[in-house]
Amino acid sequence: MKKAVITGTNSGFGFLTTLELLEANYYVIATMRMTADSSRLLAEARKRGLANNLEIYRLDVTELENVLNFKDYLAEQHTHIDVLINNAGYCQGGFIDNLADAQWRHQLDVNVNGVFSLTHHLLPLLKLSDRAQIINIGSISGYIGLPGMSAYCASKFALAGFSESLRIELLKDNIFVSLVAPASFKTAIWSKGLAQINETQSTLKKTVLNYALQARDKGQDPKAVANLIKRICQSRKPKLYYTIGKGAHLLLLVKRLLPWRTLEYFILKRLAK
Ligand SMILES: NC(=O)c1ccc[n+]([C@@H]2O[C@H](COP(=O)([O-])OP(=O)(O)OC[C@H]3O[C@@H](n4cnc5c(N)ncnc54)[C@H](OP(=O)(O)O)[C@@H]3O)[C@@H](O)[C@H]2O)c1
Repeated sequence: MKKAVITGTNSGFGFLTTLELLEANYYVIATMRMTADSSRLLAEARKRGLANNLEIYRLDVTELENVLNFKDYLAEQHTHIDVLINNAGYCQGGFIDNLADAQWRHQLDVNVNGVFSLTHHLLPLLKLSDRAQIINIGSISGYIGLPGMSAYCASKFALAGFSESLRIELLKDNIFVSLVAPASFKTAIWSKGLAQINETQSTLKKTVLNYALQARDKGQDPKAVANLIKRICQSRKPKLYYTIGKGAHLLLLVKRLLPWRTLEYFILKRLAK
């Protein structure tokens, strides 16, 4: 039975991916910042008769000591792991004029430094698998900079670069790195990070907030992302890039083909609608 570690499993993609992998006969070590949040996941796993293959571990990816203890725990209890899914993340909203230093740094701590730290320390356990995988959850915001989300976009651009380097470094060890880039899906992420844009009166800022609220209320079903992650886990030769969601492929094509000046004209026009 393959063993998978997933971060940020109390809600959204992490929650759903845990269940998808359990259904696909994986043993899942589901991590979350507060294990008090685990009751929903445990109840759902029990309801489906899958709880025997589920373990919950408290992990904040920004706490190095926590990461090191987790590594020791895995080494003792499981000897190796086959899949690491770096899913934990959030979206810090805010225009540059009202983004605080601490907000910027924390965004990079969770979405980038946390991914490095966990991957770096769990790598010896992945290398003990016959064929391992690292799946990083990026975003289409890792390919195009959007207003009101500079910290988030910077973090996801960084994750894309990190994933490319790692892919090439680790192929020789039979470890496949993949980067999943979803468009907008209906999860808690939108209400958690974008509230502060509201404080301003600017029309542009308000339209960005509205866009985020629309994603929250009318976003696509996140089960599609969980299902894609499961299929990547089951793939014999996983690719590096996977994009998913309405408009994602078109956006990437447009970014490749159009000059930036044209692109910014359309983004501003869309936001002004
Ligand atoms: N939903 C979308 O439209 C979308 C689109 C593109 C990419 N993504 C990416 O998908 C991933 C999952 O997001 P989601 O949409 O499923 O949102 P979500 O439901 O808010 O899930 C995010 C998870 O990350 C956890 N997390 C945050 N900070 C953490 C930390 N320091 N240590 C450990 N866990 C932490 C959250 O825990 P708490 O609940 O304790 O904060 C939560 O479990 C993120 O990387 C996000 O950037 C989402």
